[in-house]
Amino acid sequence: MSNSSSPHLAVFLEQQNIPDQLKQLLMQVAKSCDSISSAVNRGALDNILGSAGSGNIQGETQQKLDILSNDILLEDNVASGLLAGMASEEMDTIYPIPDNLPKGKYLLLFDPLDGSSNIDVNVSIGTIFSILETTMGKSVTEDDFLQAGQQQVVAGYALYGPQTILTFTTGSGVHMFTLDPKTRDFILTKSNVLIPEDTKEFAINMSNMRHWDEPVKRYVDECLAGKEGPRAKDFNMRWIASMVADVHRVLTRGGIFMYPWDKRDPSKPGKLRLLYEANPMSFLVEQAGGLSINGKETILSIKPSQLHERVSVILGSKNEVSRVHEYHLDR
Ligand code: AHG
Repeated sequence: MSNSSSPHLAVFLEQQNIPDQLKQLLMQVAKSCDSISSAVNRGALDNILGSAGSGNIQGETQQKLDILSNDILLEDNVASGLLAGMASEEMDTIYPIPDNLPKGKYLLLFDPLDGSSNIDVNVSIGTIFSILETTMGKSVTEDDFLQAGQQQVVAGYALYGPQTILTFTTGSGVHMFTLDPKTRDFILTKSNVLIPEDTKEFAINMSNMRHWDEPVKRYVDECLAGKEGPRAKDFNMRWIASMVADVHRVLTRGGIFMYPWDKRDPSKPGKLRLLYEANPMSFLVEQAGGLSINGKETILSIKPSQLHERVSVILGSKNEVSRVHEYHLDR
């Protein structure tokens, strides 16, 4: 890996106790994130902002940059020989590696550009990825991707904000790398990230308050009551509406992030996608000492039943998430 496009990242990975093929895959994903970062940085200069005029399987309008980012990840990784298949929030079905190309044993899942509503307003967005293992040599089906989050071998994201930051875990801590814009090298800037157990900061889209379930309403009401309320402390609220940016803040200084199930559509278990968003972020948060639940259950223990499954998400500082968990058990 010495000729790699990101020598610092390659040196870091050399020291990790993971298979070489996984190291190569992470290098490849980092390269894709670097390319997406460059595209995001150029934006209107390359006429790549705005809607693509198409929709994904979930009926959401696709932005040009959603499609471009998806294409970058597919094209960079398809011929690597490391993968058996890929799946993306932006594609209807799985993408098995074609038979004329070399295959490996890993599955790469991604939300190529999370935070679509922020693309055109120049607010932080990101790529979220998750890597699973499958049986070598067999053609993949959707079932191979339907693994509980605790089976992930790698999870991470690239945040395209004031800096581009690549964050990942291979199951031994969470590490953050800042992209040097001159050398295009990802430099380790934080290792073994730990989320403080207590926090005074919560993140939730308050405009949905009237639809929330009782335990979430109780928790947020108590935060809003401040020093005079049962929590006897003032809370601050943040909501960027890009999960990558909100979770990055939680990893950096603590907090609780919630996109809970609500009563708008009782048949819909939540807004966020289990395989492309909730699982990778939950793996990161748990590796950083936090917790991640859907209300009553740990997200990482959920066995998915479909590729684009949605889930209620409550994650972050341990003591706050535990409290919301208790409120769900109490009802
Ligand atoms: P998308 O997958 O369309 O980019 O959605 C972004 C997600 C997530 O990143 C964020 O936390 C949430 O949707 C924001 O939703 P609201 O606009 O409903 O607040």
